[in-house]
Amino acid sequence: MSEVDTTGESAMGPAGGPPEGAAGEPAMGAAGEPAKDAAGAPAADGAGTARQTRPLLEVDDVVMRFGGVTALDHVSFTVNEGEILGLIGPNGAGKTTCFNVMTGVFRPTTGQVRLNGRPLVSRSRHQITRLGIARTFQNIRLFPEMTALENVLVGTDARHRTSVPGALLRLPRHRKEERAGRAKAHELLDFMGIGSTANQLARNLPYGDQRRLEIARALATEPALLCLDEPAAGFNPAEKEELLELIRRIRDRGQTVLLIEHDMRLVMGVTDRIVVLEFGRKIADAVPAEVRSDPKVVAAYLGVPDDAA
Ligand SMILES: Nc1ncnc2c1ncn2[C@@H]1O[C@H](COP(=O)(O)OP(=O)(O)OP(=O)(O)O)[C@@H](O)[C@H]1O
Ligand SMILES: [Mg+2]
Repeated sequence: MSEVDTTGESAMGPAGGPPEGAAGEPAMGAAGEPAKDAAGAPAADGAGTARQTRPLLEVDDVVMRFGGVTALDHVSFTVNEGEILGLIGPNGAGKTTCFNVMTGVFRPTTGQVRLNGRPLVSRSRHQITRLGIARTFQNIRLFPEMTALENVLVGTDARHRTSVPGALLRLPRHRKEERAGRAKAHELLDFMGIGSTANQLARNLPYGDQRRLEIARALATEPALLCLDEPAAGFNPAEKEELLELIRRIRDRGQTVLLIEHDMRLVMGVTDRIVVLEFGRKIADAVPAEVRSDPKVVAAYLGVPDDAA
């Protein structure tokens, strides 16, 4: 019992989606700048000017092939510290694959990914999460038979310093960490607006709360970079609006956010910059207003059902 799977990989999400790879736990302290606009005004186009532009994550000329499919074709982009970067593109464009490469689920065919300048390729998922990346999944993955609180504790536990023997002996330091972890887990559940569900089994939570719980679990690892794979999928407009506000607040807490989202309106409203993929290639990388009027992007989205209206 020396190791607990903190990746969520062994758990099938209650939504029962197929596995798509995992990752997502311990991390170093969050970095980034503090609150920018507490009022939560939509990130203005060109908001990057008000923000520092130190690169946190660099995706550098990444190619990912699966047999004959080139899911990522020489993709390069940067996520700057303190920003909310949107990653969009039609179905099959390579967005989730990009997350999987970044988080160590897949080793890219060629190319490199760096976090704070440190190469991530060929590191394990656990190492990468410890370095500061956490993610959520397109298909929800929780430990269904654990409570909401326990699911979040999986994230906080991963940051504990106590050795396994220390934990088994329940040394004072371990007990102290345990208490702090529980307090933090409660705080994160409250932050995500699901504090009252702490003692409910994850599988019994309504769908939207499961999505929020996944974010709470990812935040528990205190990531520098939080990667959200379509977190608003299946939400109604009011829920989307709330989530958008939460994403802003997460950034304002000091975390950098990389957001995959199909709802163009949501993406435009919350992101500072948007990277667009199509057939594994990057076709745009600009502020929202520019992306919206980019003919290549418009063409890529033609006929693709989304909420772009
Ligand atoms: N493990 C895999 N094995 C083989 N092909 C894969 C694998 N993962 C992804 N692909 C392929 O890579 C391409 C990109 O898929 P990916 O899931 O990254 O797209 P996406 O942009 O996330 O799409 P969606 O919006 O539908 O979630 C697709 O052609 C997909 O079939
Ligand atoms: Mg996807």
